[in-house]
Amino acid sequence: MRAATFTGIDGPDDVTVQETAAPTPESGEVVVDVAACSINRHDLWILEGDSAMVDTDDLPFVSGLDVAGRVAETGADVDSVSVGDRVVLCPNQTCGVCRYCREGPENLCEQFSLYHGGLAEQALVEVDRLVTLPDSVDFTDAAALPTAYMTAYHMLRRTDVGANDLVFIPGATGGVGVAGVQLVDALGGRSIGTTTSSAKADRLTEIGADHVVESSDPDEIQETATEIGEADAVLHHLGGEYTKLGLKLLRRGGRMAVCGRTAGGTSEINIPRLFLGHKHVIGSTMGTQPDLETLVGLTADGTLDPIIGDEYTLDETGQAFADMQSRDAFGKLVIQP
Ligand SMILES: NC(=O)c1ccc[n+]([C@@H]2O[C@H](COP(=O)([O-])OP(=O)(O)OC[C@H]3O[C@@H](n4cnc5c(N)ncnc54)[C@H](OP(=O)(O)O)[C@@H]3O)[C@@H](O)[C@H]2O)c1
Ligand SMILES: [Zn+2]
Repeated sequence: MRAATFTGIDGPDDVTVQETAAPTPESGEVVVDVAACSINRHDLWILEGDSAMVDTDDLPFVSGLDVAGRVAETGADVDSVSVGDRVVLCPNQTCGVCRYCREGPENLCEQFSLYHGGLAEQALVEVDRLVTLPDSVDFTDAAALPTAYMTAYHMLRRTDVGANDLVFIPGATGGVGVAGVQLVDALGGRSIGTTTSSAKADRLTEIGADHVVESSDPDEIQETATEIGEADAVLHHLGGEYTKLGLKLLRRGGRMAVCGRTAGGTSEINIPRLFLGHKHVIGSTMGTQPDLETLVGLTADGTLDPIIGDEYTLDETGQAFADMQSRDAFGKLVIQP
């Protein structure tokens, strides 16, 4: 079978489509014929040599977390799916025995890690991590859901966002961003999204952002956003200089969930503003498999229509990463092997 392999970690030119050995499922495992696999900034960090998880010793490396497709082969002790079933993978990898696995939520697992291997014609996965897809959810939409939408949905749960809440989403045009905008809308809330691109600003309005600020400058964003109103919650995946901004815009007692560091892995925050304002800063990573099941349900009943920015063949995987890297992307980028 063919796989879009990272043969180096210097960027998108290091993606090479190669012939690799077809996987064989062992007990509890399933081989999925991959119809669609979306990419995430997480894969790009790896490809740029900016991930603690993968270094040159791990090459060649097949990334790709968000697999959707049909079951091609099942190993021993697999009863819950059959060959031909339509499935999407929850990329969470957990130990199953630590106190968090036993008590939940599972994404707190002490051994928490992520599945990689979806950027290929076939993926070898654990059957327990498969969610069955209704016919009304196509593979491309399903592949958008696991990492970006599940993470955004879990952040909205952690920040208790509900009807009429105002949610600030800096960097609202990527995977987590568009997911946040759409899910806030679905919950009856209102969003303020930011972008540096006027074309993407228009698209943000089209997908349901209530307010769009076109700027990268925290002071300029603060000025415009403050006129709109105090944020009940902040969905924050940028880090860097936008953390302080998020805290400033948050109302007293408001909650900011943080899942990423695209604009920087460290942030300076104003400590008195934090404690005098009774504000909450909440670290959040991925979500739970039941979160993903909820999102599949919302997509099946038409409440959610995931935003697919572009679709690529397996041979075009390097181009997809180049588009993400150059910020020439809106929503989810999906590879169709
Ligand atoms: N902890 C977790 O479980 C988890 C899960 C998912 C994602 N994440 C993290 O969340 C972040 C977003 O992931 P994603 O896959 O949604 O990425 P993505 O699709 O590449 O996000 C693109 C968005 O980020 C903005 N952006 C890109 N570079 C920027 C920069 N240097 N400064 C400011 N804004 C910038 C873009 O703004 P423009 O519109 O202006 O181009 C766009 O709105 C990443 O840091 C990722 O690692 C974490
Ligand atoms: Zn565990």
